Amino acid sequence: MSQKGVTIWFTGLPSSGKSTIARVLERRFRQAGLKVELLDGDVVRTNLSKGLGFSKEDRDANIKRIGFVCHLLTRNDVIAIAAAISPYREVRDYNRRLIGNFVEVYVKCSIDECEKRDVKGLFKKARAGEITGFTGVDDPYEEPLHPEVVCDTEKESADQSAEKVIRKLEELGYLSEASSHSSF
Ligand code: ADX
Repeated sequence: MSQKGVTIWFTGLPSSGKSTIARVLERRFRQAGLKVELLDGDVVRTNLSKGLGFSKEDRDANIKRIGFVCHLLTRNDVIAIAAAISPYREVRDYNRRLIGNFVEVYVKCSIDECEKRDVKGLFKKARAGEITGFTGVDDPYEEPLHPEVVCDTEKESADQSAEKVIRKLEELGYLSEASSHSSF
């Protein structure tokens, strides 16, 4: 069984489902005996990016740090999974150029549905004016123009979305026949 290093980069609005799909994928890769690491924005912000806020500068710094770690992992044949809002196209493309083996996954979900889910109650706070600069409310989100995969989480389950990503990785040659047939 073999794998190639690759970064799977999940981007999307808050509560769109990035972390959920990323965790499903992480579990499936681990079960298949593949080397995988998940970098989740919420977790990274408690250590590597501790102290950074949500200005454009701080978000870009956060995304570049995650990108740098993904770059190191990818060149060592690990599957790196990043799950962060990463609202700015330019810095996502910067990471794409840095890493090379880069599969961008747009986790697509309408703002209305994200707000309905409001996983952490932050939309409510943003609407109440308790926090400002919240992505999708009073801060921008730039959709990817050419993502390798689009997961529409209003129509697909997390398992179906994960499956779509796996199919794309196979198609692009990041997962070998052996690993895909025996484990996926
Ligand atoms: S990113 O913009 O730098 O990519 P990241 O994914 O790391 O963001 O962190 C987003 C998480 O931070 C959200 O899931 C949410 O829990 C929290 N958060 C707190 N304040 C904000 C804000 N103003 N905008 C977006 N997310 C915020």
